Amino acid sequence: MKTTKRRRSHHRPKFFFCLLLVFFYFVGAKTTTKTTRFFFEVEGKEAKKVKPSEEDFGAILISEIMYNPIKTKSSESSSPEVTTDDTEKKASGEWVEFLNPSGTDEVDVSGWFFSDEKNLAKSSMFQFPSNTTIKPKERIVVAKNVTKFEIAYGENEGASDVVKDAALPFRLNNKGEKLLLLNAKKEIVHEVEYNDKAPWPIVFAGYSIELTSQKSDANDPFSWVSSLTFGGTPGRENSVELVNKLVNN
Ligand SMILES: *[C@@H]1O[C@H](CO)[C@@H](O)[C@H](O)[C@H]1NC(C)=O
Ligand SMILES: *[C@@H]1O[C@H](CO)[C@@H](O)[C@H](O)[C@H]1NC(C)=O
Repeated sequence: MKTTKRRRSHHRPKFFFCLLLVFFYFVGAKTTTKTTRFFFEVEGKEAKKVKPSEEDFGAILISEIMYNPIKTKSSESSSPEVTTDDTEKKASGEWVEFLNPSGTDEVDVSGWFFSDEKNLAKSSMFQFPSNTTIKPKERIVVAKNVTKFEIAYGENEGASDVVKDAALPFRLNNKGEKLLLLNAKKEIVHEVEYNDKAPWPIVFAGYSIELTSQKSDANDPFSWVSSLTFGGTPGRENSVELVNKLVNN
């Protein structure tokens, strides 16, 4: 009893800070869908706050990021199909998953852009090909190397959800960086500034980071976890969402 008391008073500021964190975590989880989110327009390198566009704001979410894929071990196994090592089969290269959270509206992302902050407003932004749409509650994946991605994941594991005609022209930084999804008018629709240090999830090679729920604030590190499954869940419901469903039902 005594020791507890002493420890508490000694760490009182920390203790209250933790209480605050827990409080805001729960309040935040309940209100993020309703809070005003800022909207930016990209002008040159600067992002300027503008009035949220009802049409596109939050229409699509960055929902899973594989920034730390496992590497293929050796040059002699240049044909991944003959690889017997299960681990090596998931040498997918980097990829990012996008989710349409709407239960009713298909979203046409043709001509939209995806970029990291470094390449913003440069020609090295990824642009979604024409005729790219995301159905309600569905997900699509953009990969650094589409072939590698398709070899790593079969049709039932996400290969059918990858954008075929375009590849990510930039690398996802393993130390973290800001990723932005822009509509065709280059207005920011969603952004995430991830990091490889706590409180962001620490991931082993081959594991993705997953947004815990469609209602979570993507810029809150507590809204992300390491994928529970090796290789992550590209194009599929995030593993943590499945677990949450099981726990809550
Ligand atoms: C887009 O899809 C429509 C309808 O399926 C098709 O008529 C059109 O040719 C496609 N455009 C391109 C650029 O692929
Ligand atoms: C993509 O991956 C395939 C299969 O591993 C490889 O043969 C090809 O060289 C890669 N392409 C690029 C542009 O790195």
